[in-house]
Amino acid sequence: MRTILVIHGPNLNLLGTREADIYGSVTIDEINKELLKSAQESSVNLEIMQSNHEGEIVERIGCAKGKFGAILINPAAYTHTSVAIRDAISAVNIPTVEVHLSNIYAREDFRHTSLIAPVAKGQIAGFGKMSYLLGLEAAIGLIGK
Ligand code: DQA
Repeated sequence: MRTILVIHGPNLNLLGTREADIYGSVTIDEINKELLKSAQESSVNLEIMQSNHEGEIVERIGCAKGKFGAILINPAAYTHTSVAIRDAISAVNIPTVEVHLSNIYAREDFRHTSLIAPVAKGQIAGFGKMSYLLGLEAAIGLIGK
């Protein structure tokens, strides 16, 4: 099970043009490319998805048991609203790392609560694309050698 499921939540397909003052100019393709390179160096496979639909993310997590050693997820806006994604992670019991490009605790109050954090192994926020790379390192550590 040396495969990690990488999930990008809503609007992350717009990275590069979206609120560059907050998220920088990096695109989702550039992030994915770096994740794949880093995974390859550790002999780990990645399955990467982006979705703007909560139900699609829930279904993907729901089918993940037995296929993935860990989940790396940026739930984006669903971080703050989705009991369904939280319950899916809890249900499959796959070690999950939550990442955010921005420091959600330094932004609007409604971003200070993550419904995902209590069911994740840990959270990395505020380091731009490095959050993903650090998150991947953590996820690889969780699946073991
Ligand atoms: C985000 C932070 C969320 O609050 C926001 O809704 C996003 C992106 C981040 O990566 O910083 O879409 O998850």
